[in-house]
Amino acid sequence: MGLLSNNHNKSQLICFAIIVVLGAWAYDEASARTLEDRAVSMYDRYRAWKGHHGRVYKDINEEKKRFEIFKRNVARIDDFNWASNKPYKLGVNQFADLTNEEFGASRNRYKAHVCDSTRTASFRYENVTALPSSLDWRKLGAVTPVKDQGDCGCCWAFSAVAAMEGITKLSTGKLISLSEQELVDCDTKGEDQGCNGGLMDDAFKFIQANQGLNTEAGYPYKGVDGTCNAKGETTHAAKISGHEDVPANSEKDLLKAVSKQPVSVAIDASGFDFQFYSSGVFTGSCGTSLDHGVTAVGYGVDDDEVGTKFWLVKNSWGDQWGEQGYIRMQRDVEATQGLCGIAMEASYPTA
Ligand SMILES: *[C@@H]1O[C@H](CO)[C@@H](O)[C@H](O)[C@H]1NC(C)=O
Repeated sequence: MGLLSNNHNKSQLICFAIIVVLGAWAYDEASARTLEDRAVSMYDRYRAWKGHHGRVYKDINEEKKRFEIFKRNVARIDDFNWASNKPYKLGVNQFADLTNEEFGASRNRYKAHVCDSTRTASFRYENVTALPSSLDWRKLGAVTPVKDQGDCGCCWAFSAVAAMEGITKLSTGKLISLSEQELVDCDTKGEDQGCNGGLMDDAFKFIQANQGLNTEAGYPYKGVDGTCNAKGETTHAAKISGHEDVPANSEKDLLKAVSKQPVSVAIDASGFDFQFYSSGVFTGSCGTSLDHGVTAVGYGVDDDEVGTKFWLVKNSWGDQWGEQGYIRMQRDVEATQGLCGIAMEASYPTA
């Protein structure tokens, strides 16, 4: 076709060659600069992050160790957000200087049932048919602001209390923030072991036997195991009549229950993506080794093209994790256990 058949084309070629050479040089400069920027900005990011979260380390070795973990986490979070086509994003949150192992060990202490024999059989919502396509108990005034369990593995207490706050609002009309610390300190005779883990069902049993629970202000949260304050324990701001389990491995039944009240659910929250979830509909990856207690406070359908269905879940890691402390978890998945096992051991208190 004679692409180089005349002088005009020859000079074009020379121009083109010069551009290529200049371009390659400029590209090299740019990529070198990017690498340098990345190193500098990583330390800047670390410093800003430490300031924001008020992090102080005991010595320079700990500081170095934490920076290495921070760098690895941030690089993985950045890569995920660039490359992944999943409908959720990760964020550099308060857990960024913890390895995934450290993270799981300190916070996720739900004790999964060894077998299902202790689960209750009655399910008062089995015949519920009127199910709105979406529901948010926050908008209906049945959810208190997001709390923060800190370093204490008492997710089970936060999950049970949030469900109890919900049924209390629905039965009395009053939204009262209730005490997790009372459960941590006083509910110690059965399976529940304060910061070392527990079960929501056992918390409900304790509250029923104790004939109620104190307010958050009356028995405030400390985030460490303490001795039961007898006076605090006998002051009751709300009570329950018992609890029921949602039939296991049925998101349909879970939906019936959540349409009627906030429900305690156990999930597998041990994964990297869960640790750093920041927004969107979480679709995993996660397993079904239940290790965390949270509360389903609604459900809905995302406004993306495919209309992904989700559970609206209240967590207890403060309002800087996830969507102001909440996570939307994919609903109606193929596995009967639900995403991260959310339909395996759901339960709610009764009034
Ligand atoms: C649900 O409906 C069945 C059939 O009518 C009935 O036997 C059962 O008692 C109902 N369950 C509840 C919890 O009302």
